[in-house]
Amino acid sequence: MADTIKIDFHAPGAVDGGDIVVFVDETLKPAPAVAKQLGQKAVDLVAKVASIENFKGKAKSALVIAAPTAPAADRLIVVGLGGEKDRAGLDWAQLGGLVAGKVSGKATTIVAEFPGLSPSPENIADMALGIRLRRYAFDRYKTKKDDGKAEGPSRFVFAVSDPAAAKKAVKVADGLATGVTLARDLVNEPPNVLGPEEFAARAQALTKLGVEVEILDEKAMQKLGMRALLGVGQGSTRGSRVAIMRWNGGKAGDQPIAFIGKGVVFDSGGISIKPGGGMEDMKGDMAGAACVVGLMHALASRKAKANVIGAIGLVENMPDGSAQRPGDIVTTMSGQTIEIINTDAEGRLVLADVLWYVQDRFKPKFMIDLATLTGAILVALAQEYAGLFSNDDELAQRLAAAGQATGERVWRMPLGPEFDKMIESKFADMKNSGGRQGGSSTAAALLQKFVNDVPWAHLDIAGTAMGSPQTEINKGWSSGWGVRLLDRLVRDHYER
Ligand code: BES
Ligand code: MN
Ligand code: ZN
Repeated sequence: MADTIKIDFHAPGAVDGGDIVVFVDETLKPAPAVAKQLGQKAVDLVAKVASIENFKGKAKSALVIAAPTAPAADRLIVVGLGGEKDRAGLDWAQLGGLVAGKVSGKATTIVAEFPGLSPSPENIADMALGIRLRRYAFDRYKTKKDDGKAEGPSRFVFAVSDPAAAKKAVKVADGLATGVTLARDLVNEPPNVLGPEEFAARAQALTKLGVEVEILDEKAMQKLGMRALLGVGQGSTRGSRVAIMRWNGGKAGDQPIAFIGKGVVFDSGGISIKPGGGMEDMKGDMAGAACVVGLMHALASRKAKANVIGAIGLVENMPDGSAQRPGDIVTTMSGQTIEIINTDAEGRLVLADVLWYVQDRFKPKFMIDLATLTGAILVALAQEYAGLFSNDDELAQRLAAAGQATGERVWRMPLGPEFDKMIESKFADMKNSGGRQGGSSTAAALLQKFVNDVPWAHLDIAGTAMGSPQTEINKGWSSGWGVRLLDRLVRDHYER
């Protein structure tokens, strides 16, 4: 498991034994300091084997030399950094993931010298993060060990010029790694194990880190008038919950920032039931909520200097005799009414009440919601970008920049009166489905009616949160998407 990996640091020196990782550019020369640590013989060996194996030091490529005599090691792993352009755009987390995927011995020493690059302690920390994320596996429910699968080393040692600084940065990044891992775990958990109440308990566990957590049960929600959210959960035997997490790391009285997550622990579609094929994936319909919990974990563990609210709506969407019907009209906490056209468009109903509640009670500086909201976003953006909808250009721009920096990329999609028109209802203030065309925009248009002009962004993560493309730092089903993005956003702009 990712959490049991130990990452250490020491000053550069002679390295012997285990797997040794070195980096080269396209000239195949490692940084000058490497010769000092491993000896000129090792450098010559790299050049020789590279020419035999036709290894060119290209970015994302690696050459494995088994049982080299100089240095005396199990394997010497030569990782390419490519040309100048590749190095300028280097993603350190992906590089860490690549390294973790290549090594196999018990111990690994990473000679952290990079030709043409001088990484900051944060870059090294990103590499360590990549190692941890690469090694993530969800095997809690496998009763037999998979013998075909190599476990990989449990200890990584970085030989770096400033071990103390790197160690400090990695400690900060550890909370982030655990936050992503936590989000992944929540998404992977089967829906029988993780109902609304159990999910709320996982949020409650953040109190250990100094997060204040409050759980609203159905009675409390009735009182508040959250009938849109309650309507979604009324066909399930399991009660709905809202969990509110507060991290007060900023100045007392400073306006908080707020993150809101869709937490549909299982989405059968309800009476508008989904087809059977692939329905098991709908255990992941709480990935937005999982991201918010993972983010709160990350922020609290590094004692982020900001006041942050996390709020998640937890429901199960099931068909039964008491389930919500198409044709029903619900009154939301805001007082606005919604006609239910399709009970499978349930996420927006949950978010409508949670968004309203958060802006009403906390008056936040901004709200960002994350939701596996529409299949239509996969049609538009595949699984490479999350859909970004926003009423605030600055917030949208900051999210886009954080996306570029972390590789969790977003693409802005339109809101506007055309889409509002598509959800006009014959009988109520709006309807919960605007049909097939522009499905992601009409969903976002409904959400916008509940943000009351607070700067707001909505991230549709139906494509990126689960079953998303495999990368060097993601080899599982759930990606934990959004935790790194939002941690970065907070770090870059909202900490005093
Ligand atoms: N949870 C789904 C969206 C989804 C689809 C998430 C695929 C992840 C992967 C959502 O609740 C839903 O069912 N949306 C409907 C909306 C429609 C009925 C207006 C959809 O996208 O088809
Ligand atoms: Mn649905
Ligand atoms: Zn859903």
